[in-house]
Amino acid sequence: MSDWSAGYVTDIGYNYGYYAELNPLRLNLPFLQAGLAPASIGNACELGFGQGVSLNFHAAGSALSWWGSDFNPSQVLYARTLAAASGAPAHLFDLPFAEFCQRQDLPDFDFIALHGVWTWISEANRQVIVDFIDRKLNSGGVLYVSYYTLPSWVAMLPLRDLLLLYEQRLTPRSASWAQRIEESLGFAEQLLACQPAFAQANPQVASKLQTIRQNKNYAYLSHEYFNRDWQPITFSRMAEWLSPARLNYVCSAHPADNLYQERLSAAQVSFLAQISDPIVRETTLDLLVNRQYRRDYWVKGSRALSSAEALHLWQQQSLVLTVSADKLPQPTAQSNPSLPAACFVLLRLLADLQVHSIGSLLPTLRAAGLTLEQIQEAIHKLLANNFVQAAHSSENIAHARAMADRLNGLLLDWVQYSDTFGFLLSPVTGGGIALSKIERLFLSAIVQGHQEPREWARFADPCLNALGQRLVDAQGNTLLSSAQQVAQLTLLAEEFRLHKLPLCQALQIV
Ligand SMILES: C[S@@+](CC[C@H](N)C(=O)[O-])C[C@H]1O[C@@H](n2cnc3c(N)ncnc32)[C@H](O)[C@@H]1O
Repeated sequence: MSDWSAGYVTDIGYNYGYYAELNPLRLNLPFLQAGLAPASIGNACELGFGQGVSLNFHAAGSALSWWGSDFNPSQVLYARTLAAASGAPAHLFDLPFAEFCQRQDLPDFDFIALHGVWTWISEANRQVIVDFIDRKLNSGGVLYVSYYTLPSWVAMLPLRDLLLLYEQRLTPRSASWAQRIEESLGFAEQLLACQPAFAQANPQVASKLQTIRQNKNYAYLSHEYFNRDWQPITFSRMAEWLSPARLNYVCSAHPADNLYQERLSAAQVSFLAQISDPIVRETTLDLLVNRQYRRDYWVKGSRALSSAEALHLWQQQSLVLTVSADKLPQPTAQSNPSLPAACFVLLRLLADLQVHSIGSLLPTLRAAGLTLEQIQEAIHKLLANNFVQAAHSSENIAHARAMADRLNGLLLDWVQYSDTFGFLLSPVTGGGIALSKIERLFLSAIVQGHQEPREWARFADPCLNALGQRLVDAQGNTLLSSAQQVAQLTLLAEEFRLHKLPLCQALQIV
């Protein structure tokens, strides 16, 4: 750890994660649901962008200008490599928040985002950020912020302090992060094996520790649990932090969290319904669901819509299917009891993989006997389950296509040599679409001009070998010979051509 780090882990790079909540296109539908005019966004900023995957996807997948800073120079280099490939307007700085936020050359922003940052930084840095939001977020602008939430983490507070203490005082500085983390977790495990009174009073810490112990991703674990600062807070405390920046809470950016009523009993729903104050209400809700992580939208001023205007704007929003036909839920399947019938009507209409405005779908949905409420509920469910996503206008898609092609071109080149992250960019959704390593290898083969599944399989085989990865057959046996592996890959490629490739083409990934 170096002195510019303010106690933050900097000697091991963070994950190459993609987080859809940072995609500004996704805020329109939840804002309309909350009865507010969606923000009109031109300039966006991400503080602490890590490897810059999300920022680069959102810059190359839209017409927005993105800005951001992260003080880890290796991560900034990676992020700039992505930006250079796409040619998107991404202004990436390698400055600590305190310096970046004071720059005189920054525009005002309509969207400021922090993902995986707030819990792990010092009070001083939080103050820097709140001051930045106060000065630089436009009226009507949106803050997206995620953080570890109390009550869920309350019992882990002393155990995580002990993990850090052990790592800092009793593991050799010369040891790798993997060794230091393993030793520290091993110590905590020994402690729990002694059945301390603390663990008896807080039985959930044993399973939390076990989950952490099973995760062997040390880049993730070091940033997640071994920073000097680690402070889960309640929703009400977060509201206090943001109040000097004049922000109000809107809703969760994670669609499933807005369907919280499904997780509550009837008594809990009516208990919550009688709470008029939004801060008390959300704080109470977190206790009801034992919330672990919040991913929220806050606004600096908002315009309330009449229900007629909200309906008008809602009809203009577009949707697109984001799962392949073979992965769609079936009305009869046992695994999808929570999807109402309206979802299946909508899925049938979206099965052509085209972008549809909600307004254009309405006549057919109404003719099927569905009410507006049922249709709205169905759309929320499909968004929450990631079966559909919000789609850009055709002008936006056309604008982003060349940038997305260039970025995907780089990632499809890299997939032959490394296995860092599992997403490609869709200019249709303006964000990442998850694809397996093998699916990305098949796409890489396709962009290199290989036409047939057998050729895609032959292309993928040596790439997997170079990464030391081998497929297993249906019985779980590792396929040792190249001929066996190519045969198995060909089967997968045939399936890919049938299902996932049409989806990738419709989402303009290739
Ligand atoms: C847990 S990572 C999250 C990265 C990214 N937002 C994501 O979700 O993938 C937190 C990031 O904040 C950066 N960071 C922490 N403190 C910072 C500071 N004071 N100034 C600039 N960047 C900082 C770290 O380098 C790290 O990349």
